[in-house]
Amino acid sequence: MARLNDNYLKLQAGYLFPEISRRVTAFVDDHPNDKVIRLGIGDVTKPLVPAVLKAFHDGVDDMAQGSSFHGYGPEQGYSWLAQTIIDKAYKPLGVELKTSEVFISDGSKCDSANILDIFDLSCKVAIGDPVYPVYNDTNVMVGRTGQANEQGYYEGIVYMPCTEENGFAPAYPTENVDIIYLCYPNNPTGTTATKEQLKGWVDYALANDAVILFDAAYEAFITEPGIPHSIYEIEGAKQCAIEFRSFSKTAGFTGVRCGLTVVPEDLMGTTENGNKVSFNQLWNRRQGTKFNGVSYPVQKAAAAVYSDEGWAQVKEIIDYYMANAKIIREGLEAAGITCYGGVNAPYIWLKTPEGMTSWDFFDKLLNECFVVGTPGSGFGPSGEGYFRLSAFGERENVEEAVKRIVAKWGK
Ligand code: MLT
Repeated sequence: MARLNDNYLKLQAGYLFPEISRRVTAFVDDHPNDKVIRLGIGDVTKPLVPAVLKAFHDGVDDMAQGSSFHGYGPEQGYSWLAQTIIDKAYKPLGVELKTSEVFISDGSKCDSANILDIFDLSCKVAIGDPVYPVYNDTNVMVGRTGQANEQGYYEGIVYMPCTEENGFAPAYPTENVDIIYLCYPNNPTGTTATKEQLKGWVDYALANDAVILFDAAYEAFITEPGIPHSIYEIEGAKQCAIEFRSFSKTAGFTGVRCGLTVVPEDLMGTTENGNKVSFNQLWNRRQGTKFNGVSYPVQKAAAAVYSDEGWAQVKEIIDYYMANAKIIREGLEAAGITCYGGVNAPYIWLKTPEGMTSWDFFDKLLNECFVVGTPGSGFGPSGEGYFRLSAFGERENVEEAVKRIVAKWGK
């Protein structure tokens, strides 16, 4: 009988968001007449904007004519989309990239998982705690860890606690690591890193021959000036960092699927016998073999995000979600609940009232207020006692959820 990948059995629970969805579905089945408000998974609620939709339709129409039909596209994505991204998303930040360094994909969740293909299993990994669970779970799946201990920490991973005491900014690992995951604006805490903090990480990575996997999926939600949108705004980052970006939250593509990964040609790794090889070469090879690209109409739609019209429309929706974030944060804070995030990120990270555990609060919130959020402990042991609310809801639902929470726990 075929031997399965035992590493999967080390995973302690189902993936966080399907687990929440399972509990909510069971609750809704039992309470068909109650209005449940979902502020759990960060899934957008606003439809695609008109400029994007038009480009999407045009892309589909192109597929209907022999003269404009597209079969297999480049596995790396069309260069016209990569160039548009470089011109509109990176050049304004002072970042120069080549199209050969930008890889279009079906999203940054997949890329942040798949990227492990191009690193040796011996690489030591550092991740934040709490953290987007994909970073942790995928390292378990590939066999980079032992079992989890009672707290939920896997043997072999270096965890960097992000706590109220350190302002949710992790300290540098105390042991030597090869891969460092950073996510800014942060999921789940909603906090950001300053240029100085990112410079510290870049300098640290360069000094220690480590690679930073920088998840910038929420950069479009930064509202304050001076906060870096890309790790490449920091000098030296092209020698030590890979960056992931996504159209999911920025432009409502969670159900459409498009993202990108930047792998600079200057970013080198070492082979077993000490030779230096570009990670870009390996990722290009990996994508060529395991990926067939994002569909042509989706890439057309993604390019339209950066048209003047498209960006104005997309920005309006981002502002709408960030106004939701303000309503949640200010509403809860006024009621005496401690909150973080929600200013440069669509997530509010709150301290559970009455010292409840994250899952106890989840159950109470669902059963007594009919509101769904995400338990902080689902993102790692240091998330215990915290809870994440997403700002991606409809305004009236967000207002109603805040009202219900304040009525129950407000001081
Ligand atoms: C989240 O809620 O953390 C995200 O929606 C998950 C994801 O982007 O995969």
